Amino acid sequence: MHYKLKCISCNKIYEPNEVEYTCPICGDRLGTLEVIYDYESIKVSREEFSKYDNIWQFEKILPIEKDSYRTKLHVGGTPLYNMPEMAENLGIKELTIKYDGTNPTASYKDRASAIAITKAYEKGYDTIYCASTGNAASSLAGLSAPTKLKTFIFLPASAPIAKISQLFIYGAKVIPIDGSYDDAFDISLKIGQEKGWYCRNSAINPYLLEGKKTGALEIAVQNNWNIPDFVFVSVGDGTVISSIYKGFYDFYKLGLIDKIPRIIGVQAEGAAAIKRVFDKGEPFIPDDIETKTIADSISVGKPRDVIKACKYIKASGGYFISVSDEEILNAIYELSVKSGIFAEPAGATSYAGLKKVASKLGKDAKVSIIVTGNGLKDIKAIEKFVEIKRVKPDINAVREVIEEYDN
Ligand SMILES: Cc1ncc(COP(=O)(O)O)c(C=O)c1O
Ligand SMILES: [Zn+2]
Repeated sequence: MHYKLKCISCNKIYEPNEVEYTCPICGDRLGTLEVIYDYESIKVSREEFSKYDNIWQFEKILPIEKDSYRTKLHVGGTPLYNMPEMAENLGIKELTIKYDGTNPTASYKDRASAIAITKAYEKGYDTIYCASTGNAASSLAGLSAPTKLKTFIFLPASAPIAKISQLFIYGAKVIPIDGSYDDAFDISLKIGQEKGWYCRNSAINPYLLEGKKTGALEIAVQNNWNIPDFVFVSVGDGTVISSIYKGFYDFYKLGLIDKIPRIIGVQAEGAAAIKRVFDKGEPFIPDDIETKTIADSISVGKPRDVIKACKYIKASGGYFISVSDEEILNAIYELSVKSGIFAEPAGATSYAGLKKVASKLGKDAKVSIIVTGNGLKDIKAIEKFVEIKRVKPDINAVREVIEEYDN
């Protein structure tokens, strides 16, 4: 194997076949594992990337076997848009937007599910499961649909209907829990253990983060190795943000880039569990909360990757901020109108965070934001912007409406 697993808390190193999920000494919460590589032995060059426009172009730095299963769906290789006018309005030098709503199931989570399915095959499982706020669920359901794996999904019954609908149409076995994501997570773990299924739960499964890090690798490649000073990421469990750090870290260790951006985590005010832990400082100790936010995907009170997220963000010189639901809704609207990118609430949270602190970043700041989910995932969230006033099928009535728009 070209990688090992290392506990984020006690630093103990494990062979991949020694442990399936988390460090047995430190437990599920503190003992999440990092995938570490022997960077000296990996031979890569800038030139070889971008040959294939999906996550598998980074195979040499992914914890997977050479000829194991790969999804045929096009995961990753999502657009990175340069937005000079928006940058100017924000008073910064450069803004690039990584838009992951174009993934097969319309969210960033496809990057992780692709790896989870590969690992399930490598390890010989016949059933895979996850608990999710909705996107990891629809992603796992979609990517496993064409495989022989049976798929069980645990999610809050309150998840947006588009995400739940995806599960049914992909033929997953759905367990809508009448409770929170945190409830669904704990229950799923117990059932998964009982049944001996493969677990695709955030943080618990060390390989997911490696799939997710490809978003950072793509930013470096697509931006011609011009590394941003700041990357803004929305945060729930803390895995996506940790993965962004890890992607840049891997490229840095491989000598392909000479700096790691400062990573800025953006949380919803009503679900800022990781920010709270980070702001209290080291040693980082999980401290769970009740949540309330319109951004369902990041409505996480018991974040599972809190330790990694805090350690990595500190190492990057970054920090966490929070934004209100109103700021998130306004960010969805403004992002759509200014860029044509329609994001779900958690997807636009990164932009809401950037708007909030842009003036402090400096006029020379080069910034990337990650838009993690497609706006069509949660239409209800934006209903205040949608006003359907019916018009009679009469030419004069239509003329009147157009005149109103013109004024
Ligand atoms: C659209 C979207 N953005 C951001 C996140 C946050 O990722 P994490 O929970 O790893 O912090 C999620 C997680 O579900 C998501 O679905
Ligand atoms: Zn440990």
